[in-house]
Amino acid sequence: MVIVYESKTGFTKKYADMLAAKTSLKIFRVKELSKVNKNEEIIFLGWMKVGKIQGLKKLRKYNVKAVCGSGAGRTAEPNTDVVIARNKVEGLPFFYLRGGCFPLKELKGKDKIMLSMFLKMLKSRKDKDEKIEEAIAIIEYGFDGVKEENLKPVLNWLNVTE
Ligand SMILES: Cc1cc2nc3c(=O)[nH]c(=O)nc-3n(C[C@H](O)[C@H](O)[C@H](O)COP(=O)(O)O)c2cc1C
Repeated sequence: MVIVYESKTGFTKKYADMLAAKTSLKIFRVKELSKVNKNEEIIFLGWMKVGKIQGLKKLRKYNVKAVCGSGAGRTAEPNTDVVIARNKVEGLPFFYLRGGCFPLKELKGKDKIMLSMFLKMLKSRKDKDEKIEEAIAIIEYGFDGVKEENLKPVLNWLNVTE
């Protein structure tokens, strides 16, 4: 088995690196996929953008055995079942890994525009609860939720004991 990952701002990469260190599995970015044999078993990690696990599409013809999605929220948004369906990973083990994000003002391009719109929408909501307030703060000020303990379910699935 090998690890393949897609990370834009580095949070998912931190998890992929941690997983490689704990398992001694080889690690590849999606860009390096040509180095991976089509029959090789893969555990995939990708960051999520509007519920879509980035980079996963490129692995359709590969032997993916488990998928991890990293997002900024406490749990997968809008929920795990929707994420599984939207990414067509039914039947595969799916693990949510809380990643993080940089403050909005440090982002660039399309991602910044998308998140600015999302932030505006969140701020305009009249029914703001604790979760929405947290999402607003995360987008505005940034957040790093990467923790080794979040990998525990993945390590259990891999039968790695620490
Ligand atoms: C444009 C945009 C859309 C995002 N959409 C989601 C989302 O739908 N669900 C989620 O949990 N996180 C979402 N995020 C947060 C990222 O998935 C999160 O910051 C992730 O940990 C970044 O990983 P990376 O540093 O490896 O790129 C979004 C971030 C951006 C910039």
